[in-house]
Amino acid sequence: MDRFVIEGGARLSGRLTIKGSKNAALPLMATALLTDQPVVLKDVPDLADIVNMRRLLAELGCEAEYAPATDPGAAGGTMSLRSHDESLSHAKYEIVRTMRASICTLGPMLARRGYARISMPGGCAIGDRPVDLHLRGLEAMGAHITLDGGDIIARVRGGRLRGARIFLGGPFGSTVLGTSNVMSAAALAEGTTIIESAACEPEVVDVARLLMAMGARIYGAGSPRITIEGVESLRGATHRVIPDRIEAGTYMCAAAITNGDLTLDNCPVDVLLAAIDRLERAGVNIVPSGGDTDQLRTTARITSSRVLQPIEVTTQPHPGFPTDLQAQLMALLCLADGNSVITERIYPERFLHVAELQRMGARLLRQGPTVVVSGVKKLVGAPVMASDLRASACLVLAGLAAQGTTVVNRVYHLDRGYERMEDRLRMLGARIERLSDKQEALAVEAVG
Ligand code: EPU
Repeated sequence: MDRFVIEGGARLSGRLTIKGSKNAALPLMATALLTDQPVVLKDVPDLADIVNMRRLLAELGCEAEYAPATDPGAAGGTMSLRSHDESLSHAKYEIVRTMRASICTLGPMLARRGYARISMPGGCAIGDRPVDLHLRGLEAMGAHITLDGGDIIARVRGGRLRGARIFLGGPFGSTVLGTSNVMSAAALAEGTTIIESAACEPEVVDVARLLMAMGARIYGAGSPRITIEGVESLRGATHRVIPDRIEAGTYMCAAAITNGDLTLDNCPVDVLLAAIDRLERAGVNIVPSGGDTDQLRTTARITSSRVLQPIEVTTQPHPGFPTDLQAQLMALLCLADGNSVITERIYPERFLHVAELQRMGARLLRQGPTVVVSGVKKLVGAPVMASDLRASACLVLAGLAAQGTTVVNRVYHLDRGYERMEDRLRMLGARIERLSDKQEALAVEAVG
């Protein structure tokens, strides 16, 4: 298993293009199951999760060819998808267990093929992650759903899904992938579907934009009420994936924690306002310039002074502060001058990074979904490990700022969501290396 070795203390500076969004690209890829015509996605990042989704789609009769970007500064490669065999409808455990986003193939398969069998995704390191809202939404449209051998088996009663009024709010807010799943299915249903308490995340809006380009009739995506007038069939389309707001926010934190000076291109400032607000409160300077009028693909310069102020942060559904940046912000606040308070409202157990940060000298007190972060003067390098993507990113950030050497183990978590993170950080001046077990064995041999 690969690990990162980081020598802390280097100040990051330079320019970086933010990649296309992982969490938009995954459900966008699944929409190719809704048509037999080609769907072409641009700015798709080169990530382990994307590879897994391609494998899954291939098993479901949908080929996905990926041409990586030739220019290293590009926002991602191009993916061409085409569904050619609609008799394959079983998403098996071997792939589903690697990636919970597999669930977003359920709605499209059911709507187009009338049948789907998908392994029930289990919990994961960040807590229980049920799919009851996805299933409730599809049932309201006339799907008959049973469980067999750990698989969800869904069948359409009466040939075609029917429009319905569906409430998708849950105890922790709405569901992001659930909204995309139900919206995609409703695009081919008979009649009108209204999703109440829909997720407003920009990734849902991106899926709606592709569906509309394919001929779907969708109104209100990005608001809590989405109306979908079902159509008989959808055509192929070409679509550019939105930039990854979480990658952008992570590099903003990287600039801040190293007192750096970074310019981010293809930066989705418009959908990062809550994160920018918190970072500015902490004393980080973020200056957007140029870009589209909607500020979804703009340029932003991030600089930071030496003294960071403590702040309060609560994660919330969009447009609130995103849970996917909570861990990275915690790394930063470990070095603020005073006590910060972080409350996690989406995944109350998403604190795998807390114990690891403590090993690096952070002073953290967790009580339920809240962590009090008492700022310290410095973090010190240590071997650390986390079992989820964003917790691992947090540890890399801490390592960049820490005194001495930090070894972040199990970086396959990072490879799921950050394209070539070590190369991109090194390009900006970080002292970071990837070490594979094989390389390590050779190094020991050479020494011995
Ligand atoms: N929930 C339910 N029932 C459901 C679905 C969700 O109770 O049927 C709960 C969840 O347990 C959670 C909350 O509702 O407490 C929100 O979950 P949601 O369904 O919105 O999460 P998701 O769609 O499965 C996506 C991202 C996550 C991100 C969340 C929240 C993808 C592939 N994943 O997950 O991203 O944290 O939205 O914004 O889009 C990450 O990238 O690191 C990541 C975990």
